[in-house]
Amino acid sequence: MDLQSIRREYLTGSLTREQLDPSPVAQFALWLDQAIRMELVDPTAMVLATVNAEGQPSQRVVLLKGFDEHGFVFYTNYDSRKSQDIGANARVSLHFPWYPIERQVLVCGVAEKVSAEQSKTYFNSRPRESQLGAWASPQSRVLASREEIVARFNSVSDKFADQEIPLPEFWGGFRVRPSRVEFWQGGANRLHDRFQYALQSSGHWQIDRLAP
Ligand SMILES: Cc1cc2nc3c(=O)[nH]c(=O)nc-3n(C[C@H](O)[C@H](O)[C@H](O)COP(=O)(O)O)c2cc1C
Repeated sequence: MDLQSIRREYLTGSLTREQLDPSPVAQFALWLDQAIRMELVDPTAMVLATVNAEGQPSQRVVLLKGFDEHGFVFYTNYDSRKSQDIGANARVSLHFPWYPIERQVLVCGVAEKVSAEQSKTYFNSRPRESQLGAWASPQSRVLASREEIVARFNSVSDKFADQEIPLPEFWGGFRVRPSRVEFWQGGANRLHDRFQYALQSSGHWQIDRLAP
């Protein structure tokens, strides 16, 4: 298999300092809106990187379920590997890999749990099967077989039959409060445009162009 010849030019756009919103959140909103309009597959999917107590990084995809000036929110199992990592080290990063539009957004920051109230509101909005799935899955643990998880699903399905499914105490959201956000736009000849927003102690976002 010849991997060395797999390459393409990035020609769809460019990014200038003048185009950027002073707020990385507003700039992200603009780009996410464009990613959604371009009908990208899973435009809200983001790679979450965590680092465990031993310094070992790991990554996985989670879905962005909200964002504002306070941060980027996703939901998960609080006993999962990622949550244990965050418990030991709240510094995380997010990566939105929007290949079809030759863009990526990178976020570095600190993760914190959202309120149980906020998690409950989101949990209640999920389809019933997803709610049952959250109850059924001891996320990141070893399973003996697929039958085991199916049996757990059927068991919680029976347990909560004909009743509203409560928010599990082991499930909820994290908000990633950003301290650095980078917008990357592919450019010709590998001269890509990169702009970094770095949060200053004054609360101001400093914007710098980075070498590609
Ligand atoms: C497109 C996509 C979306 C996903 N969304 C979520 C999510 O929002 N929350 C979640 O906990 N896991 C989600 N997952 C599963 C995670 O990638 C991961 O397998 C799981 O959270 C366990 O990760 P951990 O063992 O590192 O904690 C998603 C996976 C994919 C491929």
